[in-house]
Amino acid sequence: MKQVGLVGWRGMVGSVLMQRMQEENDFDHIEPVFFSTSNAGGKAPAQAKKETTLKDANSIDELKKCDVIITCQGGDYTSEIFPKLRAAGWNGYWIDAASTLRMADDAIIVLDPVNAHVIKDGLKRGVKNYIGGNCTNSILLMGVNGLFREGLVEWVSSMTYQAASGGGANHMRELLKGMGVVHAAVADELATPSSAILDIDRKVAHTIRKDVPTEYFPAPLAGGLIPWIDKQLDNGQSKEEWKGQAEVNKILGNTDTIPVDGLCVRIGAMRCHSLALTLKLKKDLPLAEIENIIRSGNPWVKWVPNDRAITEQELTPASITGGLQIGVGRVRKLNMGPEYLSAFVIGDQLLWGAAEPLRRMLRILLE
Ligand code: HSE
Repeated sequence: MKQVGLVGWRGMVGSVLMQRMQEENDFDHIEPVFFSTSNAGGKAPAQAKKETTLKDANSIDELKKCDVIITCQGGDYTSEIFPKLRAAGWNGYWIDAASTLRMADDAIIVLDPVNAHVIKDGLKRGVKNYIGGNCTNSILLMGVNGLFREGLVEWVSSMTYQAASGGGANHMRELLKGMGVVHAAVADELATPSSAILDIDRKVAHTIRKDVPTEYFPAPLAGGLIPWIDKQLDNGQSKEEWKGQAEVNKILGNTDTIPVDGLCVRIGAMRCHSLALTLKLKKDLPLAEIENIIRSGNPWVKWVPNDRAITEQELTPASITGGLQIGVGRVRKLNMGPEYLSAFVIGDQLLWGAAEPLRRMLRILLE
């Protein structure tokens, strides 16, 4: 059995990965070795078999013993350890949730329901580094990859609504604390039906400006939104927006770049990222045919008819969160012309957006 090192398995993405590996019996097919950056020598989790103590995640000698390493430890760890490990002659497979190596020439971005052909080709060529994509792009492609697969997409404008979990566990906690602070400021008035809504609103506005915590987010998210995610680039894009075109085209293995651009916005959802898409298609197709193509994209597409009541029930974070289905709805032709299509795509940012492609890559290596 392959010796598989797991690093960063206790963090948020790592915990989701562990849960999914457990659900899919992945541990039956590997010899897991659990690493820790802070508790080497401690007891490994219940999934451990032979190696029941935690190994030092900074020990190149220990890491070198693994055939495969999966890390959710984050970009700083990758930057520090990966080059040393390769320099020490390690030739195993590196599967990583962090963005550090994503755009490297010797790395493939993994999303096998969409790009199994790119992954298989990489394996044949001896590529050893397999990196999870940016969550928004993975969800976009899982939602509408049928249209890309059929070569129908001329360009995509992607306006995003990104959940707090994209920032990390602390960001989720800060969102909830903020919600509590806002509610507490007007709890008495809310309990009094005759209280004036504009008085409540004035107090809420004051609370959002002054008292909602902003230790992790740069501005109050509870009761608000933040129209910027990640670093500022010289061309006016945010880094998150830049990733759209760069990663989508790399994932698909395109030689001719499909333009992908739009604004990325943080909203107060917990772990579901959503995207409002405008797609310019290369030809005018009937909506029924478009529906069939989108539905055929992969087994996780959850088609939501463009109907008010169903959309309000099914195409929301409340409906999608915690599951592997990718909701695709609001599909209709836009006033701009018959080739212009709208779509709303929503998925759990921690599943297809982070953990799931990693464990599936491991299973591909075990085939
Ligand atoms: N960068 C994403 C976000 C999460 O901030 O929502 C990681 O893919």
